[in-house]
Amino acid sequence: MSRFEIKAKDGLSRLGVFTTTHGKVTTPLFMPVVHPAKSVISPSSLVEEFGFQMVITNSYIINSKDKFKAKALDEGVHGLLGFDGPIMTDSGTFQMYIHELPEEEIDPLEIVTFQREIGSDIGTILDVFSDPKVGRLKVEQDMELSLERAQMSVGEKGEMLLAGTVQGGVYQDLREKSASALASMDFDVHPIGGVVPLMERYRYADVVRAVLASKKHLPVDRPVHLFGCGHPVFFSIAALLGCDFFDSASYAKFAEAGRMLLPSGTVHLEQLRELPCECPVCSTTTVENLKGLSKDKQDLALMKHNLYITAAEMRRVRNAISEGKLLELASARARSHPSLYEALQVLMDSYDQIEQMDPVADGTSIFYTGPETARHPALIRFHKKLMDRYPYRKTETLVMIPSRGSRPFSDTDPTIIDEARKRKPEELILLFVTPMGAIPWELEHVHPAQQCLFPDRIDEFTMQSAQKRLQQFIDSVSFKSGVWLSRDAPTDKLFEGINALASIDRVAGASDVKKRLPEPRSEIKDWTARKMTALLSVQWGISEVSRMNLDSMDFTFSRATGKLRHVSRNGEILFTVVPSTGLLTPTYKGGLEILSAGVHEDYIVKMDEDAAEFVAKGKSALAKFVAHANSELRAGEEVLVVDTEGELLGVGRAVLSGSEMMAFNRGVAVAIRHSKRP
Ligand code: GUN
Ligand code: ZN
Repeated sequence: MSRFEIKAKDGLSRLGVFTTTHGKVTTPLFMPVVHPAKSVISPSSLVEEFGFQMVITNSYIINSKDKFKAKALDEGVHGLLGFDGPIMTDSGTFQMYIHELPEEEIDPLEIVTFQREIGSDIGTILDVFSDPKVGRLKVEQDMELSLERAQMSVGEKGEMLLAGTVQGGVYQDLREKSASALASMDFDVHPIGGVVPLMERYRYADVVRAVLASKKHLPVDRPVHLFGCGHPVFFSIAALLGCDFFDSASYAKFAEAGRMLLPSGTVHLEQLRELPCECPVCSTTTVENLKGLSKDKQDLALMKHNLYITAAEMRRVRNAISEGKLLELASARARSHPSLYEALQVLMDSYDQIEQMDPVADGTSIFYTGPETARHPALIRFHKKLMDRYPYRKTETLVMIPSRGSRPFSDTDPTIIDEARKRKPEELILLFVTPMGAIPWELEHVHPAQQCLFPDRIDEFTMQSAQKRLQQFIDSVSFKSGVWLSRDAPTDKLFEGINALASIDRVAGASDVKKRLPEPRSEIKDWTARKMTALLSVQWGISEVSRMNLDSMDFTFSRATGKLRHVSRNGEILFTVVPSTGLLTPTYKGGLEILSAGVHEDYIVKMDEDAAEFVAKGKSALAKFVAHANSELRAGEEVLVVDTEGELLGVGRAVLSGSEMMAFNRGVAVAIRHSKRP
């Protein structure tokens, strides 16, 4: 049974809680490597002074020294380290590789049994580390041998949690094979192994490929550990890939070489004029002082600095996940080194894999950081929903307005918005042309249309993506004539790139647009219904909004902003518009309406019989009681929770994606807002 629970997500990352015998830890987390008996900074000070939650030590070193071994067998690894928090142990794989030890040096089964006997919270199998210099054949043999050992080892784990390492070097198919095989075995954590030499050589793009290939097959409810990753500059990118655990001895090794870790890279003490850091060590000394210290004292000072920096970056990562801003943090770090920039672009190439796990945002703004923003999951998803679900596709006149960047877009163009309101979709479709693509005016408040901030100067890749998206939308609409309002806006130049220019007129002012429109109607009431129809279709894929009888609904608007706030019928609220996302949250009544109007099945979560009563009373829908959720359901969506008969129990926000709801047996699947019997 998995010990992992998800609290929040961003990209493939998870802000999670992992339960060990010696306490709960919050992920993503970094475990400093400590020497079994002579660690310079004790495990308890690592926790108390620096805020780490867990340490990792080496069972091979303990087992090979009689003194350590006897004490560990007697008092447990916790007694040996004088620490009663969570301890992970490694198996000696890395020592075998570094020191080229003979095969007989460590017995793969014995070392697992030993870790169990000394009471390790998480033990590790003796996987085989492939040197990056060897060819594919050898890497494959090593990986197969690791799998054999994994299979043998799981039977020995007893009460201990066990980590089964993915190997396969830089070969993605081997990583996939390794991960699939391990997924079917009873492991609790999956490290990605064999990557230390890649990271040392700045081959971060290869690490990204190896992690993504492995993540495709690893069970979502087990933490993934990036073995030996200790440079904070890579934490945010690795977390975005879905790495939950990190460990390294770099903080000590770098210190011994006079090197200081920074969130943006490494600096050598000798080269510094000033200390570019605000940690407690650097704030209370000077470069001259540090340089003048004895070697031991200098090492200790730099080690402490390195630990402060490491801990702070991990806190920053966890914060960014909870704010939905991890891609922005990773993008900033990617600017620290060309290899990291490449790694980020390789990561973004796999946006499909990322989008599946990325939660639908709760209104977070998205700041343009560079070409990667064009592939932000929220932008991809908006365009996809627009293409699949926008209900109006046939019109007289298609009006396109390049956006000037200010929001809401309609504020810059009140004249044209008024014209749109006077016409039915059969007569006019109005698009804002933005760097994220085409945005129909009905959806201008929907996340991320209103929340995505671009500067006036944007890169070519983002422009090309906008061009492609605009073209796809134009191609999907049948219209008699097109009007493009030309103006001083960055996306104005997309006009020239449009295919089918012949049917589109470029004009210079709003009054010229007006001249090209069909005659307006006098009553303008149903523009709200028009917006509501677009929203219901796009948000929930409702196929027959007409069955919802929008005519009988009452709409309430915000006095301050003029935006739609509530939708009700006979005095009872059905939906509320969330100001920060422009999306609807249903009441229980509203939930019943969309259920009967044919909500897309992705938004229906079915509960086991025994949990139905709880949810009906308004308790959270727990992952372990979810009977069915579609794998296309994304975390963050507003969903309907039903019983085995399909009867509505409650409505709320999905905390997990559909596939996670099915996999996890801990934590909340849907946070219920309104229920049948409140
Ligand atoms: N430490 C760093 N890399 C590895 C690895 O690939 N396997 C194990 N077991 N430990 C490691
Ligand atoms: Zn410092």
